[in-house]
Amino acid sequence: MSEEIVPNHVAIIMDGNGRWARQRKLPRTAGHKEGVKASQEIIKASGEAGVRYLTLFAFSSENWSRPKNEVSALMDLFLRSLETEAQNLADNGVRLKFLGQVDTFSQKLFDQMLRAEQLTENNDKLFLNIAVNYGGKWDICQAAKAVAEEYKKGMLTLSDIDEANFESRLVTKDMPAPDLFIRTGGETRISNFLLWQLAYTELYFSEVLWPEFTPDELNKAFDAYRSRQRRFGKTQEQLKKQ
Ligand code: IPE
Ligand code: IPE
Ligand code: MG
Repeated sequence: MSEEIVPNHVAIIMDGNGRWARQRKLPRTAGHKEGVKASQEIIKASGEAGVRYLTLFAFSSENWSRPKNEVSALMDLFLRSLETEAQNLADNGVRLKFLGQVDTFSQKLFDQMLRAEQLTENNDKLFLNIAVNYGGKWDICQAAKAVAEEYKKGMLTLSDIDEANFESRLVTKDMPAPDLFIRTGGETRISNFLLWQLAYTELYFSEVLWPEFTPDELNKAFDAYRSRQRRFGKTQEQLKKQ
């Protein structure tokens, strides 16, 4: 692969905020605040590097089981970040989209999310997806329900249901699958992120805690990506001939 190749779609589990705070004897929420700053840097660096799609996992459907005060601090932080950052994203060619069950959030937060999406809807430099109240299993279930609904109405036959058709109901419809998955914070698991979409994604795990994940660390992930050979089931020899 040539040096300049940059993954077209990068999906990141931003993990390690709590441990970053604990190391400094700070409350976990201080880690989340610092995590927002890291996200801003990574969004900027991704756009500059030529990434077209960036999907960030900010809050999983399982994260509701955290202590109440942490959940509400996270919601406050989302709201405030949107209020202060939406215009900045809009001015920088970013198109924002939220992936997940967003209608369960407070009316105020939900309105702010819609507003931010609308504010950026004409941009196309960087497609930024923020996965909130997202779960990979939920995504597959809601797609299955949509297919069942159309089948029931007679709009679909059984033979119409194939991978492409099913994929077009997932929240990532109209986007290419991630080329590179990054998880920071040292855990080596998917934690119910994009289960279907990661089928052939290159996986990269970093020990660095999210608040310390700099554009340099992102470049290390890109270097690792460049060193991979994506075979999609073929042999090495077949790929050399291409
Ligand atoms: C990721 O950091 C942020 C969210 C899940 C919202 P964590 O809060 O999971 O940080 P650790 O894993 O406890 O260090
Ligand atoms: C995954 O991180 C979700 C986000 C980063 C938003 P967690 O820290 O919640 O994951 P587990 O539960 O430890 O696997
Ligand atoms: Mg964690």
